[in-house]
Amino acid sequence: MSGILDEIRDYIRKELKPERYRHSIGVMETARKMAACHGEEPERAALAGILHDCGKHCSGSDSLRLLEASGYVPDEVERFDPDLLHGRMGALVAREKFRISDAGILSAIACHTTGKSGMSKLDKIIYIADYIEPNRDGDWVSPLRTVAFQNLDRCIILCADCTLTYVMRKGMPIHPDTIRMRNEILMSLGVQGDLHVEHTDRRKNGQSQ
Ligand SMILES: [Fe+2]
Ligand SMILES: [Fe+2]
Repeated sequence: MSGILDEIRDYIRKELKPERYRHSIGVMETARKMAACHGEEPERAALAGILHDCGKHCSGSDSLRLLEASGYVPDEVERFDPDLLHGRMGALVAREKFRISDAGILSAIACHTTGKSGMSKLDKIIYIADYIEPNRDGDWVSPLRTVAFQNLDRCIILCADCTLTYVMRKGMPIHPDTIRMRNEILMSLGVQGDLHVEHTDRRKNGQSQ
C-alpha cells in the first residue's frame, strides 16, 4: 500500500496547488484516524483521503467534457456548477491513472462533494475528513472534530448544514444528493430538533455524546 500512496503523493504534489496538497495530506491522515476509531480499514481510508481532490487539476468545463466522454450523464445542477464534478473526476483519475479498482474507495472519492443517498461508512469518513482536517480553521470546525470521533451520522448532518448554509449564502443551487443524504441520515437518527443546539448545550454542560 505504501508504494501506491507514495506514487499518488508525488502526483498530487506536482499537479495540485501547495495548499491543496497540504489539504489532501490532512484529509488522508484524518481519514486514517477516523477509520481506526470507527472500525473501517485505515489504509483504505488513507488512500481515498489522499485521492479525494485529485480531480481538482481539471477545470469544471474540462471535467464536464471528460466525464461525458466516459459515459457519465451530469444532472442539471452539475451542468450549472461543474466544479461539483471534481469528486467524480477524481474517481475517474483514480481508476484510470492509479488503477484503483476498489468500488468503495471510488465511491468515497466520487461523492465527497455532494454526498449521496446510501452513504457507506467509508463515504462518510471521507466526507467528514474533508471538513475537519487540521488545515481547516474557524469556530465552526472545532465541535465537528469532536463529533467526528463519536458519531458519524450526527457529524454528517452538521457538515451538511455547513454546506447548505454556505451554498445558500452564495446564491448557488443545492445539489439534490446533499438533500437526499441529509434527509435519509437525519430520519435514521430518529431525532427531531436542532442537533446544533443539542450539541452546544451538551458542550456547555461538559457532557460528551
Ligand atoms: Fe473536494
Ligand atoms: Fe477536499
